[in-house]
Amino acid sequence: MNYLTIVNKSNLIKDSYYKDLILVVCKDAFGNDVSVEKVTYNAYIALKKCLETIGIFVELSSAYRSIEQQQEIIDEYAIKYGMNYVKKYVAPIRTSEHHTGLALDLTLVVNGKKCSNNEEAFMYEEIYLEIHKYLSDFGFILRYPKGKENITGYLYEPWHIRYVGKKVADLIYKNNLTLEEYILKYR
Ligand code: DAL
Ligand code: ZN
Repeated sequence: MNYLTIVNKSNLIKDSYYKDLILVVCKDAFGNDVSVEKVTYNAYIALKKCLETIGIFVELSSAYRSIEQQQEIIDEYAIKYGMNYVKKYVAPIRTSEHHTGLALDLTLVVNGKKCSNNEEAFMYEEIYLEIHKYLSDFGFILRYPKGKENITGYLYEPWHIRYVGKKVADLIYKNNLTLEEYILKYR
């Protein structure tokens, strides 16, 4: 399993990626089945437990997505928010890192209430900023950081985290890199 697999607008997911992928099925914040790559799932549970000790409660709003599921999201968001929004926030099929099972969207549970959309998530940005400090301890990076939009190809998403393993996550965090920059510099 290659935890440094890069999927973005210029690197489409390859069918060969799936031969090593082991997915674990769990429940998302709203009680629906959601799949996560096995090691990523264990790291997520450890992160979630750590955050609970400081009074932050997170659930998954999205994780692994098949090509078909990504297309459904594109269609649904296009109707709800329009194509401009889709272009900014939703990856075209095969270019979404959610196809890897290594990317997770964290939703917050604030005072027992689950946040249900991106606008709400931005209202609680300071809670995400606190979460970001702990990500690398569990092998995660913030995948679409502020100020790196021209490199990642996506706007800032405080909720979208990506498993890369602890060593790489530490290096990326300490040097304020994106996965694209890390790959270019160190691979
Ligand atoms: N929101 C991210 C870019 C995705 O759709 O994969
Ligand atoms: Zn995401």
